[in-house]
Amino acid sequence: MLNELSCEISGIKFKNPLILASGILGVAPSSIVRLANAGIGGTTTKSIGPRTRFGFSNPSIIEIDDGTFLNSVGLANPGIEAFIPEIKEIKKKTNIPLIVSVFGDNPEIYAEIAKKSELAGADAIEINVSCPHAEVASIGLSAELTKKFTEHVKKAVNIPVFVKLTPNLANIIQIAKAAENGGADVIVAINTVRGLSLDIETGRPILSHGIGGLSGKAIRPIGVRCVYEIYPHVKIPIIGCGGISKWEDVLEYIYAGATAVQLGSIFSRGEDKIIEILDGLHIFLKKHNISNLQELKGKSHDFDDELEVKPKFQN
Ligand SMILES: Cc1cc2nc3c(=O)[nH]c(=O)nc-3n(C[C@H](O)[C@H](O)[C@H](O)COP(=O)(O)O)c2cc1C
Repeated sequence: MLNELSCEISGIKFKNPLILASGILGVAPSSIVRLANAGIGGTTTKSIGPRTRFGFSNPSIIEIDDGTFLNSVGLANPGIEAFIPEIKEIKKKTNIPLIVSVFGDNPEIYAEIAKKSELAGADAIEINVSCPHAEVASIGLSAELTKKFTEHVKKAVNIPVFVKLTPNLANIIQIAKAAENGGADVIVAINTVRGLSLDIETGRPILSHGIGGLSGKAIRPIGVRCVYEIYPHVKIPIIGCGGISKWEDVLEYIYAGATAVQLGSIFSRGEDKIIEILDGLHIFLKKHNISNLQELKGKSHDFDDELEVKPKFQN
């Protein structure tokens, strides 16, 4: 499986660095199987909690600009017991790594869902501490809570634990370090960005829930900046996420320090995008005579000395 796009993350081998982001295709195994058949390197499930959760009423997702979305789906999911057969089915029908995203009411419940997912066949666990329109958002804003929740999940499972961070704070570095200190094997950056869209006739928020999470093209520079900021401060691999819509965007994340990337909103434009991106990356690497994409990882930091702004105002 070694080729110019293959990579390894915490011992898990990916044939290419494109991974389905959490929550994008709902919970049906058939959608994940379709993406696997279309050539994606790995998949992440919708975030799964302890019980059935319906989420917020419609409208819960809108396209506010070409390729940019605002959602407040609200972590709708069937609950872990109902999802276990789905994990097994996905594993049976695909041969790429499956990451199960989990959330819960407290660290013990996160750990319990992670364990059940591992037993059902998950290759890794992703902890969602970052959905901006659900209760879990508050975990990812606190270094202490992020560390504590990570530690609990880490203790419960023998597979790698990914922690998915929120960009909705001033200092993402400190949360990334807290996740690493809690035993995280991988950082995923970023979840959606808090945003609001208003109806111009009534002035009411368009989403039923009001504030939602921005995803798609508009957030790419935020995601790239977060990976760029985190990279020099952690030893564990980073998976970049946010706004990827073409192969050039993947390169930006890799230059910033990501080992792989997650793709979400792009799939509103169909799964053919996977092949388009893989082809673009293959051609670029060939043209520049690069034998593996990972050679470009973190390259943007070669310029850090030139770019550094010395802080002028300090406490
Ligand atoms: C409709 C929708 C549902 C989402 N559900 C989840 C979720 O359940 N868990 C999670 O960690 N992220 C969730 N996300 C965030 C995505 O996984 C991803 O972090 C975000 O959309 C940015 O990537 P993108 O710009 O490629 O879409 C969701 C995003 C969207 C648009």
